[in-house]
Amino acid sequence: MLSSHWRLDPAVVFLNHGSFGACPAAVLDEQARLRSLIEAQPVRFLHRELGDRIAAALVDLARFLNADAADLAFVTNATTAVVRSLDFKSGDELLATNHGYNACNNTLRYVAAKGGAKVVIADLPFPIASADDAVRAVMAAVTDRTRLVLLDHITSPTAIILPVERLVRELAARGIDTLVDGAHAPGMLPLDLNSLGAAYYTGNCHKWLCAPKGAAFLWVRKDRQERIHPTVISHGANATLAGRTRFRVEFDWLGTHDPTPALCVPTAIRTMAALVPGGWPEIMKRNHALALEGRDILAKALNVAAPAPDSMIGSMAALRVSDAPKPLDLLGVDELQYRLLDRGIEVPVVHFPAYPTRWIRISAQLYNLPDHYRRLASALL
Ligand SMILES: Cc1ncc(COP(=O)(O)O)c(C=O)c1O
Repeated sequence: MLSSHWRLDPAVVFLNHGSFGACPAAVLDEQARLRSLIEAQPVRFLHRELGDRIAAALVDLARFLNADAADLAFVTNATTAVVRSLDFKSGDELLATNHGYNACNNTLRYVAAKGGAKVVIADLPFPIASADDAVRAVMAAVTDRTRLVLLDHITSPTAIILPVERLVRELAARGIDTLVDGAHAPGMLPLDLNSLGAAYYTGNCHKWLCAPKGAAFLWVRKDRQERIHPTVISHGANATLAGRTRFRVEFDWLGTHDPTPALCVPTAIRTMAALVPGGWPEIMKRNHALALEGRDILAKALNVAAPAPDSMIGSMAALRVSDAPKPLDLLGVDELQYRLLDRGIEVPVVHFPAYPTRWIRISAQLYNLPDHYRRLASALL
């Protein structure tokens, strides 16, 4: 059983890999080993060795992402990476979508407000018939004042893959930079950051790559690196470069912290790849097939249609359930989520485009089985 590689509570049917991931035991063991090394000689590890350890981990990550390690920096999470150091001025427009992740759209609003720029939201349909509809909706919201577009590679509430390759290309042809929020992408979709050529790409390693929590990256195209700084200004701002770029020196040390999540990324890549004979391509294929199977089990039981074509689905899928009959609680949680938890099922209930319209968002990771979705279907019924 592949689930034996995780330490998930066996009493819970865990259908929410999407929110925070889940880390295999072997990766947690490596994290514990690294933490022991830190505590055995904190100064050696954090002062003298850390730079080389980060550089080595980034080389492995770069190979996985088809990127140049010099264009990558570790950050704690995708929210942190959404580029706060950019400057815009009055009259500029920053474009995001109605499927965007609230925390990142908030950062965009903050950055826009600082310079008197405006955030415009492109309305993408949902249900959605094709990737063309997403391209049309984004491009229809572009004006000659658009300076930056924030696109989720895989959307959070609706779990669809946006055609970022096409959008980055079409936007670049109009002189517009794209920031891709690929929070869910590494480990769910094959990535080729070099050929994608976005201005900025951020991704979490703690979701589908199954690294410990607090491992994510920011990739910045070489011609944009000078304008990007971390949210925390630290020694890197005036440290000697010693052959490194200012971009990397600034991001590599943001004050004392636990670097083990980032340093475990190579172990996470290798550990996961070894779980199935075909490595990462097989993981992605299996998870995609299981997400579709789970979606179809639920769609049939609930008598609802799939809201997106199979080609726009990765390892998560959203399905419509009845409108919320009661207001959300103070944490913004729907009562249905608590009722499913009472039956031992952890799955997010999301509201899109807004309360009371609600959806169930399932995830499929190697530890999941078709029977998990059958249990969810019968609980929903
Ligand atoms: C599209 C998107 N962006 C950003 C995030 C935030 O990720 P993190 O909490 O790791 O910053 C998520 C989390 O689910 C997400 O779905």
